[in-house]
Amino acid sequence: MHPQRFLSPAARLALAYPPPGAWMPPLPPGVVRLSAGYPFPESVPVADLAAALEALLAEEADAPLHYLGSRAMAALPGLIRQRLAQRGIPVGEGELLVTSGACQAIDLAARALIAPGAPVAVEAPTYMEALEIFRNYTDAILGYPVDREGLVVEALAEDLRRRRTAGKALPRLLYTIPSFQNPTGATLSLERRRRLLALAEEYDFLILEDDAYGELAFDPQAAPPPLKALDTRGRVVYLGSLSKVVAPGLRIGWAAGPEPVIRAMAVFKKDLDHPLAWALTARYLQGTDLPARLAWLRQRYRERRNVLLGALAREMPAGVTWTEPAGGYFVWVSLPPGLDSEKLLPAALAAGVAYVPGRHFYFGPAAAQGARHLRLSFSYLPPAELERGVAALARAVRAAG
Ligand SMILES: Cc1ncc(COP(=O)(O)O)c(C=O)c1O
Repeated sequence: MHPQRFLSPAARLALAYPPPGAWMPPLPPGVVRLSAGYPFPESVPVADLAAALEALLAEEADAPLHYLGSRAMAALPGLIRQRLAQRGIPVGEGELLVTSGACQAIDLAARALIAPGAPVAVEAPTYMEALEIFRNYTDAILGYPVDREGLVVEALAEDLRRRRTAGKALPRLLYTIPSFQNPTGATLSLERRRRLLALAEEYDFLILEDDAYGELAFDPQAAPPPLKALDTRGRVVYLGSLSKVVAPGLRIGWAAGPEPVIRAMAVFKKDLDHPLAWALTARYLQGTDLPARLAWLRQRYRERRNVLLGALAREMPAGVTWTEPAGGYFVWVSLPPGLDSEKLLPAALAAGVAYVPGRHFYFGPAAAQGARHLRLSFSYLPPAELERGVAALARAVRAAG
């Protein structure tokens, strides 16, 4: 018996890739995890969630534990709509889908929007889990460069022009993380946002906007609005999440976009909701001053970013450069020519620090472009650990250089 022969072509393709999560191998004990893109443990509102759960079950008894859920569960989409309206995104009837995290929304959007083998456009580098999803639908993943102002929209425009002239298939979908991008921390400028929306009209594609970090701008007045807030033509499917601002284990995310797209995504999702998590989240949000919480989080993350950047400036040898994000969780470090972040990792682990090598944020042969880069996260660890981690990384870089 060879059970593999029962696998569908899609499953065989999926298994031919490195397993999901290869970018986060088990780590030796005691290693400083600058690799972890998680919220810091004390940021998770455990006491408030416990109180919300107790109140929920006292009020609704068994209802949130049934398939059909409860009153509190039914309130969640409305609460998300309110948040979106505050971000300049009015969402009509049938235009919102609550999902199991933004990741499920990426998967459902890919399923609804990518024909088998059709090209999809992404940033290079981009969020590795999105690549792990897209590759299940197509191997034509086209990467476009990112600089300090985010996606280099002119490079995309140039390639679209070339593809059209050469009669090549054009991408119908572009996935982008325009604010505080994972992994570079870059933010797409307002001018580029406008140009990208115009390009979507000109070349007739949809934009999948992943705004997982959008509410974590260190200076919210200076942050450009989401693409979706500028979108007058229904070109943007917007994705959001509570993972970075409440708790990732709730698995609450959403998609807001044109009604037919949301309807298709909803059909694929079926009724695979989590009534208890939805109801708990709604009860929590009803009793929380979320703007005040966001202000507190922004302040904490800004402090941690400053500590990480300060430590890099103090510790790193000449030739190492890095980005200075205005929000989010990540700093993208570039090593001097000749160093390779994948090859450096064992020495870094031995020195006591973990990071994510750059290659994981690129698809296929483009992974070589990641060799000189690595992702550090300032979100998870307390300041002293951030400093300890950077000092260890600097030791490893100096020893290798
Ligand atoms: C860009 C981006 N999108 C989505 C997610 C995941 O969101 P969720 O936990 O809501 O699935 C992450 C988390 O790391 C992320 O960096």
